[in-house]
Amino acid sequence: MKFHIMTLFPETIQKCLDYSILKRARDNNLIDINTINIRDYTTNKHLKVDDYPYGGGAGMVMQAQPVVDAYKSISENGSKKLRVIYMTPWGNTFNQNMAKDFSNEEELVFLCGHYEGIDERALEMIVTDYVSIGDYVLTGGEMPAVIMIDAISRLVPGVLGNEESAVNESFSDNLLEHPQYTRPAVFEGREVPNVLLSGDHKKIEEYKREVSIKRTMKFRPDLLKKAQLTEKEKKFLQNL
Ligand code: ADE
Repeated sequence: MKFHIMTLFPETIQKCLDYSILKRARDNNLIDINTINIRDYTTNKHLKVDDYPYGGGAGMVMQAQPVVDAYKSISENGSKKLRVIYMTPWGNTFNQNMAKDFSNEEELVFLCGHYEGIDERALEMIVTDYVSIGDYVLTGGEMPAVIMIDAISRLVPGVLGNEESAVNESFSDNLLEHPQYTRPAVFEGREVPNVLLSGDHKKIEEYKREVSIKRTMKFRPDLLKKAQLTEKEKKFLQNL
């Protein structure tokens, strides 16, 4: 899968996506991170990419020309129809379903705004998806792009090894993931739940589902409405 990231800070993006699982995925050519420096496309002789907002107001606005020309450089002059994601606090809130949907694309373009944003005309011309990573305001779209690329990449087949499988994890079935333990069995007097040491796989699965339900009830009760529970699990939930 190929990610194109249009940004004024390409080194930041490259550094943030070059360690651990994503580095391995890049080394194995499962994902490709192509950064495009928007500044390389400005026709301004002082390499300026922003200007004061029409109508007044605080800060600077990124100009349309370098953004649209940068896009043309990756889309065969606009003829290749690519999905272009603009990160903005007023977009649709990113979630696991969206990550899954984006992971089905072969190529994705991320447009990172900085300062007070980008001239609306450039957005109208090239953007297909407006996405926020939450109800707070950041200084730019670079960190949101990195977060989204991380969440999307790990759903690309082969990126996670078997041992890191994305099947049994938070949000995959509207339940939060169960707690995890590793050796030693007793740490500073705290014991690992006995059932996990029992070797009884049916009991262990039942236990994991129950603690997932418990945790979801505590932290994200809104998710439980959409979770598929057995009759026994529904009773367990009622008795919590
Ligand atoms: N840019 C600035 N804040 C943002 C947010 N919360 N989500 C996505 N892009 C942003």
